[in-house]
Amino acid sequence: MGNYNITVLKGDGIGPDIVAEAMNVLEAVGKKYNHKFNFNEKLVGGAALDACGVPLPDDTLEACKNCDSILLGAVGGPKWDNLPSNMRPEAGALLRLRKELGLYANLRPAIIHKALSSASPIKPEIIGDSLDILVVRELTGGIYFGERGHREGKYGEEAYDVEAYSEFEVKRIAKTAFEAAMKRNKRVTSIDKSNVLESSKLWRKAVIEVAKDYPEVELDHMYVDNAAMQLVRNPKHFDVIVTSNIFGDIISDEASQITGSIGMLPSASLSDGAFGMYEPIHGSAPDIAGMDIANPIATILSAGMMLRYSFGLNAEADAIEAAVTEVLDAGYRTPDIYSEGTTKVGTKEMGRIISEKIK
Ligand code: IPM
Ligand code: MG
Repeated sequence: MGNYNITVLKGDGIGPDIVAEAMNVLEAVGKKYNHKFNFNEKLVGGAALDACGVPLPDDTLEACKNCDSILLGAVGGPKWDNLPSNMRPEAGALLRLRKELGLYANLRPAIIHKALSSASPIKPEIIGDSLDILVVRELTGGIYFGERGHREGKYGEEAYDVEAYSEFEVKRIAKTAFEAAMKRNKRVTSIDKSNVLESSKLWRKAVIEVAKDYPEVELDHMYVDNAAMQLVRNPKHFDVIVTSNIFGDIISDEASQITGSIGMLPSASLSDGAFGMYEPIHGSAPDIAGMDIANPIATILSAGMMLRYSFGLNAEADAIEAAVTEVLDAGYRTPDIYSEGTTKVGTKEMGRIISEKIK
């Protein structure tokens, strides 16, 4: 029996709706497998701004530093969009959490569930009925964290953001990608823009260095523009993708839509040890908040990744994934993945049915 302390950050928009369902699913797993998950809820993002004037209160950060893992919903919304960057939920809370907790490795698996293959916008002859790509996104470096500012230029005001990577940062994330590939189909595609950018030249050189330690893994390189095209032209080319913070942000949204809905994709943000933060890759969707229509599956699968990566509970993680597959096979759909002939359910009902399957 395990005892695990989880800091829960529901955040904004649909965050509270979807995280509640992931917590229910974890409860069900706890009951069945005899584990105790202790949830410690804290404010983050716009919710924290409204309550205490800052997007990441000290007591939230402290709780995040002193727990076994973090479950996060989403942050942000139009209400807080006009604040200065460092006060906005995105930079002031999410990016700060990633940085302060050293969560440099962001794993974003894009998997097509057989039952949902018709939801993919890609033609059936290209996508088939399966797709399994793992995007490994560098999360604490690059342009998100480089020097930035405003200055007076030749034509008036200018703004700039610097993309910088150290060899250390690239090698560290490349190692994560190669290790993951060893457990999968042993292929890594590194995405860069080394035909133009210095930072990408260093990126490519460092990845090639790391590849020497993994002779069994087949490595190829793609420029990001080509990769964006190949993802829709021939998605099956990809097994593990490794890329920078900003390219990973873009490519992972594209990969998610290929699987049918952004509402399905979980993520894990990891540091060197077992500690991690788990969140859906989608945003806070303020327009549908509280309406009981958001898809909780990405968050539920994120909880599954938590069990696997932070707690080493593989059977339990398998049980969550199997439950999601079963529920989809049985035809239950939230509105974002609904198609004729299936059964439309709300956020709560979807969470309940998945929890049921685990029991
Ligand atoms: C993501 C999001 C964030 C990012 C935003 C909300 C800052 O798009 O996790 O992909 O750009 O990293
Ligand atoms: Mg994004």
